[in-house]
This record gives sequence, structure tokens and C-alpha cells, in this order.
Amino acid sequence: MKVVTTRDELRAARAELSVRADTTGADTTGEVGVVMTMGALHAGHEALLRRARADVDAVVLTIFVNPLQFGPAEDFDRYPRTMEADLALARACGVDLVFAPTREVMYPGGDPVVRVDPGPGADVFEGASRPGFFHGVLTVVNKLFALTRPDAAYFGEKDYQQLSMIRAMVRDFDLPIDVRGVPTVREPDGLALSSRNRYLSPVEREQALVLHRALAACAATGSVDAGMAEYAKVPEVKVDYLAWGEGRWLTAAWVGGTRLIDNTEASNS
Ligand code: PAJ
Repeated sequence: MKVVTTRDELRAARAELSVRADTTGADTTGEVGVVMTMGALHAGHEALLRRARADVDAVVLTIFVNPLQFGPAEDFDRYPRTMEADLALARACGVDLVFAPTREVMYPGGDPVVRVDPGPGADVFEGASRPGFFHGVLTVVNKLFALTRPDAAYFGEKDYQQLSMIRAMVRDFDLPIDVRGVPTVREPDGLALSSRNRYLSPVEREQALVLHRALAACAATGSVDAGMAEYAKVPEVKVDYLAWGEGRWLTAAWVGGTRLIDNTEASNS
């Protein structure tokens, strides 16, 4: 597994991948797949990496805590950074190439002046609560597509609105990339894995289960009221939204100082 941090190193390592991927497939050009992350890797990220490993000839992992997608009052500074453990997990998953740039490598000369306009999809749910979030996400995803030049890209359904906005960008910009969604990985008790779960105290960890219960209640009854009734049982948790959109039940809530999101299909219970 090669780990690179600069554009020049990435360019060289990416070219090598093509050569290797080409020679392993007898009659096809090898496929390169990318998994983009902000690090603090857990079993949710691992599912993306393993799916990519099973699908494509070469797997590229990017690790970059993207300042552009954090609001001024959000957790950019305290976002967990666990590079050594991340690299160990990447190695265990058979990743070929890790790109872990600094902010200066990613945004030389400061934050980019040209940004992807996410369109009206960013006016609701996460976009409504986090102004600029999807501009920041789509801008960095677009840049990482250009830098890593993947054939396929893997994103989690955990961030369902993000997944559909990335699909929309790929469609609207004619990017030659196959976007593949991967189902949400959960703890045995239903809590969706998230890098932010490590902020939760043991008491908050219990309270956080209400997101999954609220979604399950919505899915079982088809009504948002049933989900809100679940939230009402845990008054310490502040609901941001619980709604139907994108063909899923979607929710965000504050558990203490930690903002969590989750979603579920209509048929789940
Ligand atoms: P991050 O939160 O690190 O997530 C990286 C990828 O892992 C995303 O595609 C996300 O949906 C997926 N993921 C996270 N938790 C998951 C879970 N429990 N089950 C399945 N997949 C899960 O999302 C981002 O980073 C950033 O916005 C990024 C796309 C990297 C752009 O900066």
C-alpha cells in the first residue's frame, strides 16, 4: 500500500495503478475505484473499502478533513484524526493507494473561489441546517475525482442526501464515474456508525438510539407522528428534522453537543 500526500506523488502513483490494473485483466482495462473519507475510519468506511476491493482492480482511499464543509461553529478543529489506525485498517482492507493531503496541498493559495453550486437539493434537510455544507462537499468531491480519476466511486447510504447530491453532480457534469451506494453499517443495537459517535458519553450513547427508533416507527407506520412520539420519550435529544424525502425517512438530531444523522427505507422496521 502506497501512502502519498502531494499532487506529484499522487500523479505518479495513480499512473502506476493503471499499468498494474491493465496487466492483471486479460482483455479489459483495469478499473480503479475510490473511497473518499475524512478519516477516523470505522466499520462503515470498512464496508466501502471491502466492497471496492471486491469490485475493482485497484482501490484508492482518500483521507482529508475538508474545512470547506464545516460551518464556523462546527467541529472542524476537534474532528477526530487517527491516521495511524486509519492506515492499518486500509492495509487490512487491501487498499492500493492512500491520498492524504494537507489543507495546503488540497487548496493551494487558500480556499477555492470557484465552488460547485449544489442546486435546490441543498435547500432542505442537511443543506438547510448547514449552510454551505453541500457546496463544500461537492467541491472537494469534484476535486478528488479530478485528482484520483476513478472509474467507480463508493459512498455510504448513511449520508443519503450527500449520496444523491453526488449522483446529481456526476449526472449534470457528465463525469465518467460510476457512483455506487453502500448500505449503512450499524452497531448491533441499531446505532449507525459515525466518526462522531466517539464524542458521545455512555449516557448519550444510549440516548442516541432514539434516532434509529424514530426512523423505525416512521417506516412501520408511514407517519412522521409515530417517529416524533419516539423522540418525545427522550427529551434530552433535540430533533433537527424528521421527514420523508429522497424515498427515505431522514433524520438529524442533537445528542448533547453532537449532531447525528440517520435514514431508513420505507419498508424497514
Ligand atoms: P465521512 O463522514 O468520513 O464518510 C466517508 C464515507 O463513508 C461516506 O461515503 C459516508 O457515507 C460513508 N459512511 C460513513 N458512515 C457509514 C456507515 N455507518 N455505513 C456506511 N457508510 C458510511 O462523508 C464524508 O466523509 C465527506 O463528506 C466526504 C464525502 C469524504 C467529502 O469530504
